[in-house]
Amino acid sequence: MGYQWYPGHMTKAYRQMQEDMKLIDLVIELLDARIPVSSRNPDIHKLAGNRSRILILNKADLADEKVNRMWETYFRDRGLFTLFADARNGASLKKLDPLVKEACREKMERDRKRGIINRPVRAMVVGIPNVGKSTFINSFAKKAVAKTGNRPGVTKGKQWIRLSKTLELLDTPGILWPKFEDEKIGEHIAMIGSMNDEILHTDELALRIIAYVREHYPENFTARYGEGFPADMQGHEILERIGEQKSIYSKGLKIDYNRVANMVIDDFRSGRMGRISLEVPEELS
Ligand code: G4P
Repeated sequence: MGYQWYPGHMTKAYRQMQEDMKLIDLVIELLDARIPVSSRNPDIHKLAGNRSRILILNKADLADEKVNRMWETYFRDRGLFTLFADARNGASLKKLDPLVKEACREKMERDRKRGIINRPVRAMVVGIPNVGKSTFINSFAKKAVAKTGNRPGVTKGKQWIRLSKTLELLDTPGILWPKFEDEKIGEHIAMIGSMNDEILHTDELALRIIAYVREHYPENFTARYGEGFPADMQGHEILERIGEQKSIYSKGLKIDYNRVANMVIDDFRSGRMGRISLEVPEELS
């Protein structure tokens, strides 16, 4: 499968982010908990510089709980402030506040020594498309203390969501581009839906999802599509069987492969296939 990301978008997004970074103390980096490696943009290190960072593994509700715990240990062992979240659910974000204080301890201490008190930490959410940046910001905006307007001279054109005395969030997220260093990364990004589906071959993508789920989460596959898929059944035969199981026919009682493929992709992305992780820490070498 050929994956791509348009250079024009990349340059524009990068410049915008460089600008926004000037206003920021804390970078809240959102990853998809199902693919923590592939959803991470390596340039974020350069962009964030020495700013404080918090890693949010979002859509944790869609990822395998056992694997979430492995990643938690993995990131904590590397000294990263990490939180697993479902951005749609405000409760899972409650743990963020203490983490912000921990991540920004040095900055707050520096401010205090200089006699600067009550200057809130300014944070920005960044991440590749579809990881849940807007959802995350909206969840916060709902419980915001106040939505502050433009700050003349300092933050022209920027809106800040004031969450508490200690935290303000920029209301526009930084959009990072996925990296496509190898085929696997592109495939994972396509599977979770962080890529324009128009450039994808849906049959092929659905078959990759099926192959992965049958290999790693066979019981999820059976729970969703039933029995009747012998181990040696491959490719379009599987789509055909799923089509029969779910009665997805086009005119003339032929299996509508395209609809079957789209259903499989959607089943996976929405969690109807159960909680599935595509990457585990051991795979890092
Ligand atoms: P983005 O700004 O990073 O591009 O992502 P956005 O917030 O638009 O979220 C993309 C999709 O992911 C949305 O679904 C959103 O509801 C869903 N989402 C965000 N966070 C989570 C999470 O933690 N868990 C789960 N399960 N889903 C999450 P959508 O179908 O595109 O839109 P909608 O119909 O839900 O509004």
